[in-house]
Amino acid sequence: MELNENIAAVVTGGASGLGEATVRALAATGARVSLFDWDAGRGAQVANEVGALYHQVDVGDPASVAEGFTAARSANGQERVLVCCAGIAPAERTVTRAGAHDPAVFERVVRVNLLGVFNCASQAAAGMAGLAPLSDDGDRGVIINTASIAAYEGQIGQTAYAASKAGVAGLTLPMARDLARHGIRVVAIAPGLFMTPMIEGMSQEIQDALVEKMEYPARPGRPREFAALALHVCANPMLNGEVIRLDGAYRMPPS
Ligand SMILES: NC(=O)c1ccc[n+]([C@@H]2O[C@H](COP(=O)([O-])OP(=O)(O)OC[C@H]3O[C@@H](n4cnc5c(N)ncnc54)[C@H](O)[C@@H]3O)[C@@H](O)[C@H]2O)c1
Repeated sequence: MELNENIAAVVTGGASGLGEATVRALAATGARVSLFDWDAGRGAQVANEVGALYHQVDVGDPASVAEGFTAARSANGQERVLVCCAGIAPAERTVTRAGAHDPAVFERVVRVNLLGVFNCASQAAAGMAGLAPLSDDGDRGVIINTASIAAYEGQIGQTAYAASKAGVAGLTLPMARDLARHGIRVVAIAPGLFMTPMIEGMSQEIQDALVEKMEYPARPGRPREFAALALHVCANPMLNGEVIRLDGAYRMPPS
């Protein structure tokens, strides 16, 4: 799909980090971008800077997602591109001094990271299915979800996060198969370590330990490198039903 002013795009988690970089990269192509995020202050600021639209959405709440799409579509038209970046990563061991892992924390992580992707992707697909195809292939749209390499090698304290991201990886192929008849592709990107506020919030000691184990490049990824892959996925019709690791050969150790 060629990105230009005729294409509407929605990015969740677009106020920060990987989502913000994707909003900026999509806006630079001329695409009409809407940004969904829970953080209203930062969301509105990023949107203003690039001429995108901000909508306050909780991706874990299907009704909030529906309101966001209604507002985005009334301003920009039906989106042909959805990039899901909203996510949270609280860590907790299965057993702590206080007892068993707090089930409310586990549930919240799955609600935002996995149900959030399901809510946004399924609602976007329902809208995209009604569009006219753009090419002889029948191309109507593309959905890009953000998993994590924690889907495969979650670290100590990451049961909830790893389970949520394994869910995002796992729904990629069946959703691509479901949507093939509608000409909608579904791809997940599984980033390694990227320098975003999610990582900057960790102690320097933890950051140093993570970087020490990296292969090449021996540094965290840059958000614009994630955005570059998201744009390539939009452009390349043969990418479908796949989870793409973007990690510089990094394999996460237990801690
Ligand atoms: N940074 C990394 O190293 C890394 C690695 C692998 C995967 N990821 C994944 O990439 C995605 C983006 O991460 P990031 O590093 O840019 O994080 P980030 O914290 O910088 O950005 C996440 C954004 O999601 C928003 N958000 C959180 N909960 C939300 C909700 N319920 N509804 C709407 N918005 C919500 C936040 O307000 C924030 O703007 C996440 O899904 C994360 O799990 C990040």
